[in-house]
Amino acid sequence: SHRIMLGPLVAAIDQGTSSTRFLVFNSKTAELLSHHQVEIKQSFPKEGWVEEDPKEILQSVYECMERTCEKLTQLNIDISNIKAIGVTNQRETTLVWDKETGEPLYNWHYVYIMCIYSGTDVIFFASIMWLDLRTQSTVENLINKTPGRNKNHLKHKTGLPISTYFSAVKLRWLMDNVKEVHEAVVSHRAMFGTVDSWLIWCLTGGKSGGVHCTDVTNASRTMLFNIHTMDWDAELCKYFGIPMEILPRVRSSSEIYGLMKSGALSGIPISGCLGDQSAALVGQMCFQDGQAKNTYGTGCFLLRNTGAKPVMSEHGLLTTVAYKLGRDKPACYALEGSVAIAGAVVRWLQDNLGIIGSSEELEKLAASVGTSYGCYFVPAFSGLYAPYWEPSARGIICGLTQFTNKRHLAFAALEAVCFQTREILDAMNQDSGIPLTQLQVDGGMTSNKLLMQLQADILCIPVVKPSMPETTALGAAMAAGAAEGVSVWSLNPDDLSEVTSEKFEPQINPEESEFRYARWKRAVQKSMNWET
Ligand code: G3P
Repeated sequence: SHRIMLGPLVAAIDQGTSSTRFLVFNSKTAELLSHHQVEIKQSFPKEGWVEEDPKEILQSVYECMERTCEKLTQLNIDISNIKAIGVTNQRETTLVWDKETGEPLYNWHYVYIMCIYSGTDVIFFASIMWLDLRTQSTVENLINKTPGRNKNHLKHKTGLPISTYFSAVKLRWLMDNVKEVHEAVVSHRAMFGTVDSWLIWCLTGGKSGGVHCTDVTNASRTMLFNIHTMDWDAELCKYFGIPMEILPRVRSSSEIYGLMKSGALSGIPISGCLGDQSAALVGQMCFQDGQAKNTYGTGCFLLRNTGAKPVMSEHGLLTTVAYKLGRDKPACYALEGSVAIAGAVVRWLQDNLGIIGSSEELEKLAASVGTSYGCYFVPAFSGLYAPYWEPSARGIICGLTQFTNKRHLAFAALEAVCFQTREILDAMNQDSGIPLTQLQVDGGMTSNKLLMQLQADILCIPVVKPSMPETTALGAAMAAGAAEGVSVWSLNPDDLSEVTSEKFEPQINPEESEFRYARWKRAVQKSMNWET
């Protein structure tokens, strides 16, 4: 059989909260040629705790790579055309491993015992996920100790409020509570990393010479990184009591970090690295100051490019590094509105309440009534993120009557995602002074047409969705393909291929939209300060 001739190909590893994907693109057309996806288990060992197994994450990456290569071969596409690999990942999730054994270091005896009793798989090692709330009291103590009990005490350096969300407090927790982590730190064997660092270290050889690095976008989510000097900050590390020697080296988002050490893609450079939200910004080609995108994944993240200038929010948004596409290229910043729970609410309705069997069913159920009938659902499962940053908030469902049924609840869940985005968009517009006239969207939930229509209705502006939904992976592939020494992908906007898209126009009148939004805001107030 003859092989199809194509231009150079570029691949991306997209390691998200709920699944891992490996995707291969044609660098000339940005066409997605093949991909494979594997779901990731999340564990909730205690109330508020959220963990994943780093070894399962790594295994899922290898599996996705192998299967995608098989699929390409079946399509008669020669995998030797793959010239580079980019990594994009769920951000903030925190891992520590032993550089001598290569093993992750959170030895989870508690779950081990539970698993023996319940007969489920034994999980030995875990990472603390971004949604995890175990550091809530640490965070409250830290805030109480700042002058004026100010959660924005470190914002001038980090762009972030002190919150359970970012890695520094999770790392502190591991050092204080896990004997193995403490011992490894003391004996200089510990390596800290977010998921990108863990994967790149393992894929480039692990304990035999793996590269310990991260990129500026992932580093900017740790609270240990100074977004002005673009480096780890000794004062911040001291504040959280983190020894700087365990931190990965910070690199740009587009350069060769190292080569794949094993498998079918052995020898191929890993040359792109971006936190998933930054990658989506790049994949949506938001390279201009003022351009924005909203990604609906497990959470929901609206990022607006602010160019070479870090803009400090006055309305509860984060200032974050958007990308730095090359060692000698300037860094670009973004304002970010982070919503903790978006797609996760669908999974909750499915796994915890059992009222739907799949995410597609949610759309059907909600569409069958077309209204929440006055029911409001604030899914503050991990406290509230932007613009409130209130870790003590908890989920509520209110406005129920005997008439309310699961269809209304389904509708209210979709509306919740849209209202949360509206709150972020309002804050973004206030901070920048220039309102967005349409919203570019992507992510798994955007296949839900009802959600997209509702979003346009609630924002009162059009919502625009690209026809190729894998923008996060595309962004990472673009960064990898454009790296010096690879150079198979141009990031010049004039050379980039046209994107086709679908547009959802607002259909309800703004008064109705405002009325519902005002009700939502009252529900949010009720979800706050739940424990005090
Ligand atoms: O900050 C967390 C974010 O990076 C996770 O993204 O797509 O897995 O919800 P996602």
